[in-house]
Amino acid sequence: MLEGKNIILGITGGIAAYKMTSLTRLLVKEGASVKIIMSPEAVQFVSPLVLSTLSNNEVLIHLHENNQWNNHIELATWADLMIIAPATANTIAKAAHGLSDSLLLATFLSKKSNILFVPAMDEDMWLNPITQQNIDILKSFHHDILPVGEGFLASGIEGKGRMLEPEEILLYIKEHYGRSKSLSSKKILITAGPTQESIDPVRFISNHSSGKMGVALAEVCYENGAEVTLILGPTDVKPIYKGIEVVSVITAEEMKITCDEYFKDTNILFMAAAVADYKPMTRSSQKIKKKDEELELKLCKNDDILKGLGLKKKEDQVIIGFALESENEIENALSKLKSKNLDFIVLNSLKDEGAGFGYETNQVTLINKKGDKFPSDLLSKKEIAKFILSHLFF
Ligand code: CTP
Repeated sequence: MLEGKNIILGITGGIAAYKMTSLTRLLVKEGASVKIIMSPEAVQFVSPLVLSTLSNNEVLIHLHENNQWNNHIELATWADLMIIAPATANTIAKAAHGLSDSLLLATFLSKKSNILFVPAMDEDMWLNPITQQNIDILKSFHHDILPVGEGFLASGIEGKGRMLEPEEILLYIKEHYGRSKSLSSKKILITAGPTQESIDPVRFISNHSSGKMGVALAEVCYENGAEVTLILGPTDVKPIYKGIEVVSVITAEEMKITCDEYFKDTNILFMAAAVADYKPMTRSSQKIKKKDEELELKLCKNDDILKGLGLKKKEDQVIIGFALESENEIENALSKLKSKNLDFIVLNSLKDEGAGFGYETNQVTLINKKGDKFPSDLLSKKEIAKFILSHLFF
């Protein structure tokens, strides 16, 4: 997700510096080009040789090295993003007041925007009003400051001041600096997960949908710059990005009401939810007691949400439905595509091993209105989401 991004990782002298080996590896794995600048103090905490090996670039420390000047202005221009992690109280103070007694600070002062500080220090230093005032100064210049975590600190006490973990830092970078703009003008609505239809206060009818496919779609649409709303049935799976709006629902009826509300303002709808087709005719207000050998449960049909939205669809709206089939797959999927007025349908066959509910992987056939079929390989759900988007939009 960070392919083509040039990132400077500025490491200053705190114990959390050793974690920058992990962050470097994560950034490189995401496709970024990484150049590392260390403060002279930071080399006490982590080896420049390890960091240069992981970043595939020479680690820079001083303004002058081997009788050569390290051009901080060129470095600042090269970088799409400069991360200062860990950012010690000392570096934060110097940055806030424009000191430039190191290559790291000179590069910071030469860079106008896209600077992310990841503070790490002891609780007393963090809570000191001087540090907090320095943080406010940096914020007032529109620099980005991550919060500190709480927990075990190098001094042996528990408290505020821990640097966020490399995975958390990476997630923030992806969300705030890594999104492409290919779907940036699009409002995308996605439904995912099962619905639950109550029988009594302790029992319900549902299905095995995990919601993973819809959540993966939401994440990939968001990574491509779309404004994403996810209407999510009861499941433990959640999108990793905070910027995705999640509306939780339980029943098919709640999902229908929420879909109707959002659809008016939607450019693209992915209806990936496994909506219960039937619900109990009545819901007992008390727990149903065990009496007879047999119990008859009367069900009535839920509204077909997708069909209703297909009827309301405007010219410029695109609807993608899903079909889970166990036989006559193509024929059934095509019939749903037509009867629900869809633009595309994503077919899942129960015959494909490793595909469908609960699995981490999936295998689908995307079908358009003309009946053209695009089969995928067995891939992770995130890769399937990318496969679907690549055939729809790119
Ligand atoms: N769908 C819906 N509302 C329902 C049932 C299904 O919006 N009450 C949507 C699903 O989210 C999916 C598509 O319709 O995008 C097809 O769902 P599927 O369960 O495969 O088919 P059904 O239309 O329910 O038909 P059947 O169960 O008979 O295969």
